[in-house]
Amino acid sequence: MSELGRDHGLTLRQDYFGDPAAWNALVDLLQDTFSIDVSLLDQFGGPDPTSMPFGYFDSEGGCVANFSAFSMPMIINGRTVKAAGYQSGAVRPEWRGRGLYRDLMQRAFDRTAAEGCELDLLLTDKPALYERYGFRILPQHIFVAMAPKLRKTELTARQLSVVTPDDLRVIKTLLQNREPVSARFAVVGQMEMFLLNASFNSAIRLTALADDTVIAWTFDGATFWLLDIVGTAIPSLATIVSALDIEPERIEICFPPDRLDCEASPEPYDGYTMLMVRGKAAEDIAGPLMLSPMAEF
Ligand SMILES: CC(C)(COP(=O)(O)OP(=O)(O)OC[C@H]1O[C@@H](n2cnc3c(N)ncnc32)[C@H](O)[C@@H]1OP(=O)(O)O)[C@@H](O)C(=O)NCCC(=O)NCCS
Repeated sequence: MSELGRDHGLTLRQDYFGDPAAWNALVDLLQDTFSIDVSLLDQFGGPDPTSMPFGYFDSEGGCVANFSAFSMPMIINGRTVKAAGYQSGAVRPEWRGRGLYRDLMQRAFDRTAAEGCELDLLLTDKPALYERYGFRILPQHIFVAMAPKLRKTELTARQLSVVTPDDLRVIKTLLQNREPVSARFAVVGQMEMFLLNASFNSAIRLTALADDTVIAWTFDGATFWLLDIVGTAIPSLATIVSALDIEPERIEICFPPDRLDCEASPEPYDGYTMLMVRGKAAEDIAGPLMLSPMAEF
């Protein structure tokens, strides 16, 4: 099935997440490569069902190389765009430099192109690796907002935790029914990465406002970082800050704030990874933007 695999005594496997042993082999590869534990997803219902993993496995069932695509519909300037995200790209050190990654990337790109994706997105600390495939860096900006006038609010704020089953149910239901947090640049719906990102960073607070909105945020006593809003409607910044009952000196919004009814100015954001895009819808992306950290993949 794969000449490259045969040459190296490896088996190519696609769409293998239904096989728990193969999924666990990928968990090990990502743990060894990036020191992250994606098996946390098992407690939330498993990996993204839209995942299209491509991997090479050795004779003992070990995953030596992987590259995955997944469906990641986006709202870009008011239009829903069929987009693919790429993640979990890794090759075990002893297998590097033999073209395994190039082979897996090509297979994943061919697959999403065949499915009619208009936009490809990835996050990387090695942009040169992807530039030769037509990806370009999309500079990101954080949005610094003026502190809004606080309002009296009847909204109740309640802390949620992804490890509490009742809270998890609330969060998952809202993630399924959410409005995109921005009409300019935001995921339409992404459940698994939100839950995984919330689990990876214990500083992230998830606060329910009434029953229909969850605010993802952090606060160090001075700066308030608004990371994401998951809800059937998007409250204004003033409503959020009032309901959270904080008085920040500085407010940084980590997505385009077009739905927040506030004034904010963009400042360049230097993250550890860079957001890269390609595809025909990439031309429609304009102006300062940021992918919510809760949608990072
Ligand atoms: C990056 C990585 C996946 C490459 O795997 P690999 O199997 O050695 O790659 P290949 O042999 O298939 O090479 C593919 C191409 O990438 C290039 N490449 C490899 N490592 C690179 C790097 N660090 N920076 C830029 N280009 C790189 C190769 O030169 C090759 O280019 P070519 O197609 O023009 O010949 C592997 O080194 C790895 O797992 N690194 C740690 C995890 C990581 O960084 N993953 C990517 C996250 S975005």
